[in-house]
Parts: sequence; structure tokens; C-alpha cells
Amino acid sequence: MVSSQHPDATEIGRLDGKVVVITGASKGIGKATATAFAAAGAKVVLAARTRETLEQVAEELSVGGVSNPDSILAVPTDVTNIDAVKRLIQRTLDTYQQVDILVNNAGVGHFGPVVDFDPDNWDTVLNSNLKAIYLCAKYALPSMLARGDGQIINVLSIAAKVAFEASGAYCAAKAGALALTKVLASEVRQQNIRVTAVLPGSVHTPFWDGVPQHPDFEQMLTPEHVADTIISVCQQPPGMVTEEIVVMPPLGIL
Ligand SMILES: NC(=O)c1ccc[n+]([C@@H]2O[C@H](COP(=O)([O-])OP(=O)(O)OC[C@H]3O[C@@H](n4cnc5c(N)ncnc54)[C@H](OP(=O)(O)O)[C@@H]3O)[C@@H](O)[C@H]2O)c1
Repeated sequence: MVSSQHPDATEIGRLDGKVVVITGASKGIGKATATAFAAAGAKVVLAARTRETLEQVAEELSVGGVSNPDSILAVPTDVTNIDAVKRLIQRTLDTYQQVDILVNNAGVGHFGPVVDFDPDNWDTVLNSNLKAIYLCAKYALPSMLARGDGQIINVLSIAAKVAFEASGAYCAAKAGALALTKVLASEVRQQNIRVTAVLPGSVHTPFWDGVPQHPDFEQMLTPEHVADTIISVCQQPPGMVTEEIVVMPPLGIL
């Protein structure tokens, strides 16, 4: 008979000193996730393209007392660009020596029927939601593999599984990212690296700015709901992995 051992209480929930790289950390889900990790004692590396908003978040977290200024690093990064991603990881290693957790969250949405859809928007959506996950994982993994420990959280969407009209690029990118997440999980599980896909339904964030047909903001999840989900996955004890987690507004798909 296999005996079930309850982990020591000290093993549960400890994020103090963990080095967490979060992409898309300047707004919405990424900002809420950065705030939650900082509050849990992690060293947080913030990445997004716009320097101003990124530095504003870093200041809010350090001056606002959520974290110590030495535990927050803002690295302006376009995660679709290979050199920028290499720089992001190198800055993280130079500053904190390792990457414990990577949260691939950055992503852009463009919507419209395939027949009218702008090919440049196709590239933007595919690159930010899919290629970026490959690039960030590729360059963060060596630090995790060297220590035989690490966690990668990919923030996808229910659009990875459900076909929404006028969302061809977005659904394709998220479905591809789910496939990539599963492949990655199987490639690194033997090295004690846990990989999780988080699939939220609609979340009230700036993502919806400029999208004329959007669900009711009042019914959406908050960015903090998703952040709390990510934190809880990272607080799970060793010896288990949550491979996929769907988080929906109480009314379901809006
Ligand atoms: N909101 C929803 O209803 C919803 C639902 C399910 C899943 N999601 C997913 O959740 C993730 C976060 O969405 P959100 O709602 O928080 O969006 P958001 O409020 O629009 O924030 C997106 C973040 O990603 C950054 N970003 C975009 N392109 C980037 C790039 N190429 N390189 C680096 N950073 C980039 C943005 O900053 P810069 O523009 O400064 O780069 C910003 O910090 C996305 O992957 C989205 O697909 C959202």
C-alpha cells in the first residue's frame, strides 16, 4: 500500500525569495499577478514593452510598500523579439542568479472575420500569444534545468478550446499555446519542472479597450481572480502538478 504523506506545513505556500519573471506585467492580469507575488515575498521581474507603465508598476510595488525595492526589477521587453527575451533572462540572472517561476502572460487580441482579417494583425496575435511562450520558455529553462527545479505558468484562454466567431487568430494562437504547453510539460517533467496552463474566461482588463463588441464588464472575472489562481498553483507542495486549470465567471462564457 502506498502511504500518503502530508507535506510539512513549512513546505506549503512559501514564495519568499522565489524569482518570478512575469510577462505582460504592466497591466491587467500581469500587474495583478506581479502584485500578488510581491505580496507573497517573491522577487519579481516585470516585463512588457512600454517602459513608462512598467516602471510605474515597479514604483507602485516598491514605494507602495508591497515589496522591497531590491525585490522588483522592471525590464522593458518585447517578448516576440528573440534578443529582447535573451536580455530579459540575462538581466534576471545577473540580478537574482536564477529563475524559479516563469509566468507567460503577455498577449494581444485582434478580432474580425477571417475574410477581412489584416495579415499584420495575424502575426501580432500569433507572435505575442504563441511564439513568445516558446522564446521565454527556451531562455528561462536552462536556469531551471541546471537546478532541477522550476515552474512555468502559461496564461492562455478558454479560447484555446472554444471556437469564438471573429477570433480566428486568437483561438488559433491560444490552441497552439495549449498544445505547446502540453509538449513542454512532457519534455521537462522528469527534471522536476512543473508546467501549467491557466485558461480564464473573460476578465475585466484593458485588453478589451477598443474592442467594440465585448461581454458585460460587470459579469467578468477580475484580474485578481486569475492572479490568485496562479499564486495558488505556485503554492502547491512538491509531489503534485496542476497541468491545466479553467477559471470562469460564475455565469460561464459571456
Ligand atoms: N482579459 C481577458 O478577458 C482575458 C481572458 C482570457 C485570457 N486572457 C489572456 O491573459 C493575458 C493577459 O491579458 P490582459 O487581459 O491582462 O491584457 P492587458 O490588460 O491588455 O495586458 C496585456 C499586457 O501584455 C503586454 N504585452 C502585450 N504585447 C506584448 C509584447 N509583445 N511583449 C511584451 N509585453 C506585451 C502589455 O504591455 P505593453 O503593451 O506595454 O507591451 C500588457 O502589460 C493575455 O495572454 C490574454 O490573452 C485575457
